[in-house]
Amino acid sequence: MAQRFHLLLSIIFFVNLISFSSQQDLSFIYNGFNQDQVNLHLDGSARIQPNGLLQLTNATTQQMGHAFFNRPFDFGSASSESLSFSTHFVCALVRNPGSDGGHGIAFVLSASMDLTQAEPTQFLGLFNISTNGSPSSQILAVELDTVQSAEFDDIDKNHVGIDENNLKSSVSDSASYYSDREGKNKSLTLLSGDSIQVWIDYEDSLLNVTLAPLKNQKKKPSKPLLSKSINLTAMFPDRRAFLGFSAATGSLISHQYILGWSFSRNRLSLQSLDISRLPSVPRPTIKKKNNPLLILLLVILALIVMAVLGGIYLYRKKKYAEVKEPWEKQYGPLRYSYKSLYKATRGFNKDGRLGKGGFGEVYKGTLPLVGDIAVKRLSHDAEQGMKQFVAEVVTMGSLQHKNLVPLLGYCRRKGELLLVSKYMEGGSVDQYLFHDDKPPLSWSQRVAVLRDIASALCYLHTGASQVVLHRDIKASNVMLNGNLQGFLGDFGMARFDDHGANLSATAAVGTIGYMALELTSTGTSTRTDVYAFGAFLLEVTCGRRPFDPEMAVEKRHLVKWVCECWRKGSLVGAIDARLGGKFVPGEVEMVLKLGLLCTSIVPDSRPTMEQVVQYINRHQMLPDFSPDTPGIGVSTPVLMGIPSLAITSTSVASSTPSVSSSSPNNSMFISHTIVYGDGR
Ligand SMILES: *[C@@H]1O[C@H](CO)[C@@H](O)[C@H](O)[C@H]1NC(C)=O
Ligand SMILES: *[C@@H]1O[C@H](CO)[C@@H](O)[C@H](O)[C@H]1NC(C)=O
Ligand SMILES: *[C@@H]1O[C@H](CO)[C@@H](O)[C@H](O)[C@H]1NC(C)=O
Ligand SMILES: *[C@@H]1O[C@H](CO)[C@@H](O)[C@H](O)[C@H]1NC(C)=O
Ligand SMILES: *[C@@H]1O[C@H](CO)[C@@H](O)[C@H](O)[C@H]1NC(C)=O
Repeated sequence: MAQRFHLLLSIIFFVNLISFSSQQDLSFIYNGFNQDQVNLHLDGSARIQPNGLLQLTNATTQQMGHAFFNRPFDFGSASSESLSFSTHFVCALVRNPGSDGGHGIAFVLSASMDLTQAEPTQFLGLFNISTNGSPSSQILAVELDTVQSAEFDDIDKNHVGIDENNLKSSVSDSASYYSDREGKNKSLTLLSGDSIQVWIDYEDSLLNVTLAPLKNQKKKPSKPLLSKSINLTAMFPDRRAFLGFSAATGSLISHQYILGWSFSRNRLSLQSLDISRLPSVPRPTIKKKNNPLLILLLVILALIVMAVLGGIYLYRKKKYAEVKEPWEKQYGPLRYSYKSLYKATRGFNKDGRLGKGGFGEVYKGTLPLVGDIAVKRLSHDAEQGMKQFVAEVVTMGSLQHKNLVPLLGYCRRKGELLLVSKYMEGGSVDQYLFHDDKPPLSWSQRVAVLRDIASALCYLHTGASQVVLHRDIKASNVMLNGNLQGFLGDFGMARFDDHGANLSATAAVGTIGYMALELTSTGTSTRTDVYAFGAFLLEVTCGRRPFDPEMAVEKRHLVKWVCECWRKGSLVGAIDARLGGKFVPGEVEMVLKLGLLCTSIVPDSRPTMEQVVQYINRHQMLPDFSPDTPGIGVSTPVLMGIPSLAITSTSVASSTPSVSSSSPNNSMFISHTIVYGDGR
C-alpha cells in the first residue's frame, strides 16, 4: 500500500506526463527525478539520487553516463505542419575544489538510445573515433563543454556548441547570456557548480540555444546564445529521434547533474519548470587534502611568529635581566627590579643624568610611592666580593641619620650594580662653590652644612653598631636638600669594620687633596676620614679646592697656604672672596684652625669626629696650637697619575681629579698604587 502511495506521489511530484495520446504531441516535465522513474533509460554512470537529482557522472575518471526519455520523438508525416520542439532543462557541473573539471554535458537527439560504444573524455559519450563525423551516427547534440580539445577546434574550455554528427561544432560560443535587465551579454562559468538553465528551441529549421543562470533569472533571455539553421529531417531520415543527455569525464573530472527537464513539441505549450521543487546540488566540501606546500608555509609562518615572539621575549628578558643569588633573599625588600628602575628613569634617559664619573653614572628618576630618586649605576666586572659589598650597601641602608642621604635599595645585573637613593634637589656642595649657575652660599649656610656633615660623619664613626668609614668625603659627595641642609652621600666607596677591629687593613681609596699621608702605609681609618673632613672644612671656607694645580706654587696646596696666611697674621684673609666680607671672623678663624688641625700629617694629633662636633658647635674650645706646631700646615705629597693610571673626574659637577685604576678582581673598589711625585 505504502509503496503504491509513494509511487502515486512520485508521479504527481516528479513527472507530469501531460499527453501521450498522440505521438506527435509528446510533452513531459521533470521537476526533479524519481528513482522509480520508468520512462527514463539510464546507462553508464547515470544514476538518480534519492533527492531527485539525475547524476550523469560523479567525480571519477573515464566515465560516461546517458539518460534518454525512453519513447522517441516522432517528427510526424512530411506533410504535416512544420517540425518544431522546445526544451528547457537545468543542469549543474560541479568540480572538486582546487582541481580542474571535465568534460561536459550534452543534450542529445539520437537515432539510437544505445551509445555504449561511444567513448568518454573529449567524445562526451556521444561518439567514438570511427563514428565521429559520420552522417550515419545520426546524432545532434548541444554540448556544454568544459575542456578545450584541440582536435575538435574547441574555442575555449567554457563553451557551448551545436554538434551535427560531429564533435567539431558547426557553431559555438563562449558560455554567456543576454541580460535583458542590464541590456548586455554576461559571461557564465559552466564549471562554477551553480545551476544553469538551458533552452533549446527548434522552429522553422532554426535551432536556438539560450543559457542563463538559475539564480536571479526567472525569464528566458530575449536573445539566444547560438542560432543555427538545421534540417532535422535530413539528419534523421527515419523522422524520429530519442531525446536525452550524455556526459563524460576523462582524467579531468566533475559531478554532472540534471536537476529538471521540460520538453514540448510546441514552444507555446512548454511547461515551465517549478524552480522551488528542483533538488539541491551537493557541493563537495574542501577536502582537507594536506597540501604539503601549504603545511610548509604554515609551519614556516608559525616558526617566524614564534621566533619573533621569542625574540621579543628574549629581548625584554635580556633588557631587564638581573643577577639574583640565594644569599640575597634576606635583602628582598631592599631589592629593586631593574625594570622598575628602567621605567623610573625613562630608560636611563640622558636628560635625567645627574652626573658621570669613573664609577658609573647617576640618573634622576621617579618611583611611584617613593618619589624622586637618584640611581647610581656602577659597573663591575667580577662577582668576587659582590656578596660582601651588597651586604655593606644593605647595612648602610639601615643607617639612620638625619644628615645621611637615605639609601633606598639596590639592584644587581651582570656587570652592573645599581644603587637607589633619595634624590637631593639641592645638588652637591661643590656646585655652589665652583659653579656660577648656583648662588654662592652665605657664611652661616656654610657653617650649617659643615655642622650637618660633622654630625653625620660622627654618627658613622661612633653611632652605628659598626664603625663605618666613609672613605670619600669631598664637596661633590655632600648633597643639599631644598632647604640647603647638608647630607653626606655616596657610600659607593665606604667599607665597614667592626668596632675594635684593625681598621687599617683595607685598600686605600680616596680623592687627591683629601687623602691623608698615612693612607699608603697603614690604610684607611677614622683618622683618614677626619683628614678628608678637614680638607673639606678648608675648601668650603676658602672656596678653593684642596689641591689646585693651576694656582701659583705657593697657593697650590690649600692646607699649606691657609697655614701661611695664619703665619702672616691674617688667617681670615684665606676666606672665599665671594662671601664679600660678610662673615663672623671668630667663627671663620675657628673653622680654619679646625681644618688645619684635622689635616695634621700626624694622625694622632687629629681630633676624633666626636671632638670635631664639639669644636664646630663651640661646645668646646680648640686646643692651643700654632702654625709652627709640628704636622700642621704640611702639604701631603700629591699623588700624580702615571700614564697607566686613569685619571677621571668622579662627577660632572666636580672636576676634582681622582685616581682610579681597575684592580683585576674588583673594579668597584677603587684602589691604586700611589706615586710620589712633584712633592710641592
Ligand atoms: C562513481 O560511479 C562509479 C560507477 O558509476 C562507481 O563505481 C564509483 O564508486 C562512484 N564513485 C563515487 C566516488 O561515488
Ligand atoms: C564505434 O561505435 C560503433 C557503434 O556505435 C561500433 O560499431 C564500433 O565498433 C565502435 N568503434 C570503436 C573503434 O569503438
Ligand atoms: C531564434 O533566434 C532568432 C534570433 O536570433 C529569432 O529570430 C527566432 O525567432 C528564434 N527562434 C526560436 C524558435 O526561438
Ligand atoms: C551577445 O552575444 C551574442 C551571441 O554571442 C552576439 O550575437 C551579440 O552580438 C552579443 N551582444 C552584445 C551586446 O554583446
Ligand atoms: C530537408 O531535407 C530533406 C531531405 O534531404 C528535403 O527533402 C527538404 O527539402 C529539406 N528542407 C529544407 C527546408 O531544406
